[in-house]
Amino acid sequence: MRSKIPHQKVVIIAIDGPAGAGKSTIARLVAQNIGFLYIDTGAMYRALTLLVIKEKIDIANEEQVIALAKKSKIQLENNDDGTIKVFLNGENVSQDIRKPEIAKFVSLVAKISRVRSQMVQLQREMGQKTSCVLDGRDIGTVVFPNADFKFFLEADFQKRVNRRYKELIQSGIKITPEAVAGDLKNRDTIDSTRECAPLKKADDAIAIDTTDLTIEQVVEKVLSQIH
Ligand code: DC
Repeated sequence: MRSKIPHQKVVIIAIDGPAGAGKSTIARLVAQNIGFLYIDTGAMYRALTLLVIKEKIDIANEEQVIALAKKSKIQLENNDDGTIKVFLNGENVSQDIRKPEIAKFVSLVAKISRVRSQMVQLQREMGQKTSCVLDGRDIGTVVFPNADFKFFLEADFQKRVNRRYKELIQSGIKITPEAVAGDLKNRDTIDSTRECAPLKKADDAIAIDTTDLTIEQVVEKVLSQIH
């Protein structure tokens, strides 16, 4: 049974951490359990990256990437099962944004500070309207530094690789574990060393190491803090 938190005000739950730590699965299940909206902020950066690739824009040309970001419309919708639908200029791109090609370039798009300010503004607009669980890299540090609850999920590198590999294979994408490891390593480096809003744990975030925990155990840990 769903347990709802009684609230008058909008409640924000921030879940940050590196790729493969379990953020999106946990954020989705927690949101579903308490009847909140789930906002996958990584999907927004992925959608813009898809457009950059489609329009054959050189990612190093920041001005062009920013111009494209300004004229693109990215929307998120929650499905009944808690998963999200991502629309880019009205087109459903939920599958396309998960492809390895997007994963390979997304960190380069996400490190552009003016791209980030636009995404952060969108995320704040969504979060101000309704109680939600947001997952990303900078939710507890930059997007909602006053979030009601902050979590930082971590896991051993090899475990994160295995999880992401399994996920991709299950969704029908052909890839090797080595390629997944290379992608995660590359993204970890860019995401945590970029100048603007690098991936880091907020001082007041609760850290959860998910390496040896099941999904249910992590959800339980998060919910026990919230309740
Ligand atoms: O969570 P994900 O793997 O879908 O995120 C894709 C990329 O987007 C990730 O490598 C870094 C970037 N990102 C970010 O910089 N800030 C966020 N709040 C979410 C994602």
